Amino acid sequence: MPNLRIPGPTPVPSEVAQAGTAEMINHRGPEFAVLLERITDRAKRVYQTDDFLAVLSASGTGGMEAAVSNHISPGDHVLVVTVGVFGERFTQLVQAYGGEPTELSFEYGTAADANRVDKALAADPDIRAVLFTHNETSTGVANVQLKEIAEAAHGRDKLIIVDAISSLSSLPVPVDEYDLDVVVSGSQKGWMVPPGIAFVSVSDRAWEAAERCTTPRFYFDLKRAKESQETGQTPWTPAVSVLFQLDHALDMMFEEGLEQIYDRHRRLARRVRDGVRALGLDLFAAEGVESDTVTAIKVPEGIEARALLSTAREQFDTVFAGGQRTLNGKIFRFGHLGYVTDEHVDDGLKALESTLKQLGRG
Ligand SMILES: Cc1ncc(COP(=O)(O)O)c(C=O)c1O
Repeated sequence: MPNLRIPGPTPVPSEVAQAGTAEMINHRGPEFAVLLERITDRAKRVYQTDDFLAVLSASGTGGMEAAVSNHISPGDHVLVVTVGVFGERFTQLVQAYGGEPTELSFEYGTAADANRVDKALAADPDIRAVLFTHNETSTGVANVQLKEIAEAAHGRDKLIIVDAISSLSSLPVPVDEYDLDVVVSGSQKGWMVPPGIAFVSVSDRAWEAAERCTTPRFYFDLKRAKESQETGQTPWTPAVSVLFQLDHALDMMFEEGLEQIYDRHRRLARRVRDGVRALGLDLFAAEGVESDTVTAIKVPEGIEARALLSTAREQFDTVFAGGQRTLNGKIFRFGHLGYVTDEHVDDGLKALESTLKQLGRG
């Protein structure tokens, strides 16, 4: 088994993989209702929320699409706060549904600043919502001012929609405490489950916006999802096997304890950053805003990113992720979220060291 050190899909514990081989059940029957309730109750604890939590069969982008199509109407002005590729995906989604996004972009490698968000909101009183990526997987940046940005949005009576796909479940995202309206996560990240399930929480404020929202929607209609989930079902045939796996992964998460999971992620992230610096490499994220789930590393001079990735994969059995779009060739990414141990991290660092040596550096 290669050491899969990409920021999702993440490695799946063997018991979780095994849980996916269970016999199929009737998704309209009583066993499924019990399974769905057990999953949503615990996933809501991970979300730290009493809000409704939709369990959708989709990738994370499906969850983002649900967040946009249920709350943003054609012509609505919204503010998209971007620090990387995934923030820009929100802009594309809003445009696809006829909304009018204003992008407030921060330089790649840096985090968003709540004061500038507030200024941008002041500049256009018609803005209805702020869309925001909590943990920007493409740059390895944590938007550490999540709470302040939520406060800026609510201070001006805007909805706050958060992509927490690569943070929630690995790092604390206290949805109710921060009063976040719509929060998206995805099974293939910290949840230790294969891709296939997206979660979307919906606050009372967001339901009011959904009632007013004129955007056509069907598969991702959150009202339908809520009505179905209240009867122990999902509106459409769900990814039953992935839900079996999620059920098992949640057992493991609560056995470990959420605080322990957060501590483990913080500790291992530090271990990765220290190890990478010790190899003489530079981190891409600015100091103080480095993500605790994925580390973006500058490709050292004289080495080609493609050669680095292929050498690590072919000779040292370790899979790192490349840079996306304009960061392609400039950075590579070391994932450390979900089912990750000291040994995984140390093996990853050793593979990186051997790769650099092989390529004539170090
Ligand atoms: C922060 C963030 N947003 C959105 C996505 C998109 O999720 P998916 O690829 O599951 O559609 C990802 C996953 O790579 C992500 O890390």
